[in-house]
Amino acid sequence: MNIFSKKSDLKAHLDNLRTAKTKIGFVPTMGALHQGHLSLMKESMKNNSITVVSIFVNPTQFNNPEDLKKYPRTLERDVENIKTLSKDIIVYAPTVEDIYEGNTKSVAFEYDGLEFQMEGAHRPGHFDGVGTIVKKLFEIVQPTNSYFGEKDFQQLQIVKKMVEKHQLPVKIQGCPIHRENNGLAMSSRNERLSTEARNEAALIFKTLKNAKKKFENQSANEVIAFVTKEFEKHPNFQLEYFEIADEATLLPCKRKSKTKKYRGFIAVFIDNVRLIDNISLN
Ligand code: PAF
Repeated sequence: MNIFSKKSDLKAHLDNLRTAKTKIGFVPTMGALHQGHLSLMKESMKNNSITVVSIFVNPTQFNNPEDLKKYPRTLERDVENIKTLSKDIIVYAPTVEDIYEGNTKSVAFEYDGLEFQMEGAHRPGHFDGVGTIVKKLFEIVQPTNSYFGEKDFQQLQIVKKMVEKHQLPVKIQGCPIHRENNGLAMSSRNERLSTEARNEAALIFKTLKNAKKKFENQSANEVIAFVTKEFEKHPNFQLEYFEIADEATLLPCKRKSKTKKYRGFIAVFIDNVRLIDNISLN
């Protein structure tokens, strides 16, 4: 299996393989891989001749240094997991120095307002960091397709916007959320939950499903009030936000329109771990 830690080596390797017909599928990750990540790789393998996976905990997208410090780093296990899918997958696991070359800073991006909502409002600078790293990785890998999970739905929309604005020659493919048996959305952060909290966290998806039902005949504000109350009943959780937003603009839904697609977005703390999830509402 080819594992590269230097972009120059990865680029040289890909240049050797690339022909006019080569399709490169790229799955950017921060490691601590789970079934959700593996499903992105499977999707890439179905539709491309080469699949590249990056494993890099990107410091510039963390607004909270403690969160960055605690982020799980499990490279050996990740590589073993990837091998179970295919030994042909190419792994790029760079150091901060290889990527940032001594200038570990993000560039400012404009995403037509998508960046000011939800995660953008609660994690200042986060999407500048995401844009910075994803653009750098695209320049290194030069993929035909790149795969992103819908768990980070706002990130998916933001990456699509960045690609459009910078006219990058890559197609962004969104893939469905993978869930644990109890409905908890798979996330690398779940590793930091105690067994008890992991079980309790089933409440998040359960509440999202109930919110979806209520949205059939209640207003956005009524549904938001319902979700807020549900979490107030469970003091182990601290709800950071629940918002109902237009999928395309991510602007909050004030009055429902039949022509718009809406999603419920949630960020909640349990066990001091911040979890996010979302659900399509109509
Ligand atoms: O979703 C993630 O894991 C990260 O935000 C990404 C896209 C790999 C960029 O660091």
